Amino acid sequence: MNEDVNIWLESNFVFLKKELALLENELKNRLLSVTNSKIDLHNVFNYFFDIRGKRLRPILVLLSAGLVRSINSKGLAEKNTQIENEIQLASALELIHNSSLIHDDIIDESSHRREQITMNHKFNNKIAVLAGDLIYSHAFLIMNDLKFPKISGILSECVEKMCQGEINEIISPYADFEQYIAYLDAKTAELMSTCCKCGAIIAGANETIISALGEFGTNFGIAYQLIDDYLDDEQPQNFDVNLLLQAKIYSEKAKKNLEIFENSEYKKHLLNLLRYVAAKSNLKQEKYQEQCI
Ligand code: FPP
Ligand code: MG
Repeated sequence: MNEDVNIWLESNFVFLKKELALLENELKNRLLSVTNSKIDLHNVFNYFFDIRGKRLRPILVLLSAGLVRSINSKGLAEKNTQIENEIQLASALELIHNSSLIHDDIIDESSHRREQITMNHKFNNKIAVLAGDLIYSHAFLIMNDLKFPKISGILSECVEKMCQGEINEIISPYADFEQYIAYLDAKTAELMSTCCKCGAIIAGANETIISALGEFGTNFGIAYQLIDDYLDDEQPQNFDVNLLLQAKIYSEKAKKNLEIFENSEYKKHLLNLLRYVAAKSNLKQEKYQEQCI
């Protein structure tokens, strides 16, 4: 990956090093706990770690929660329980994200993801759909243990919206710019917004802050997906849209959503995620240049 892209994401990995290590441990233990079955689920779940993503959704949860915690500073004992809860929440959201990718690969009949063979191809559709459901259910088990009914409700609504978005896309492709943005919102931004909102809620934020962080997640998610479509050459065919310009506009909106917060390390790292998205857009030019050499 391009150096500039690495810098911004790396800074988040370094900043959240301890929490992300705990998250990996938690995910491993969680998935190992559901291996009581005739089929070697251990083998199935190795896939989960083999195609390890960037953990962007957990990062959004942890930074949003941390930002709120830095405002409402709490005692040390309380802070430790709080971080444990945030890691549980981040694990649940990463599991939901992975479950959605497993289902997406079945729908798209994809054979590879992140240069790894997909679960549907490695095993088959039957195993993949059920393993996706299992991972998804486990996420709600974690939510249940957290005992935050408001968060469980937001998560359920989020998945409902993601599924509706996918169904709409299968039935008919977007006809105009508004429909396209609504689709990007449902498919990618809603889950990112949910990560930010739920991170804020678990850290005890008020409605204004929950809403600001939720908006940040939406605008960041749309910018992220616009750049993804740009890099994958998925330019909509039915109407004219400058993907790079729109990504810039949504990134600016996301930046504005954070203006209500005072400067802090958490805010700085949320802004670094926007820099990461902006730097990603250069990858295409580099790829092109490499092809021309
Ligand atoms: C990738 O799109 C797909 C998504 C980001 C979301 C897919 C959502 C669902 C299948 C519904 C939700 C289901 C659950 C269980 C939570 P893409 O195919 O454009 O991108 P890709 O290149 O990453 O495959
Ligand atoms: Mg796909």
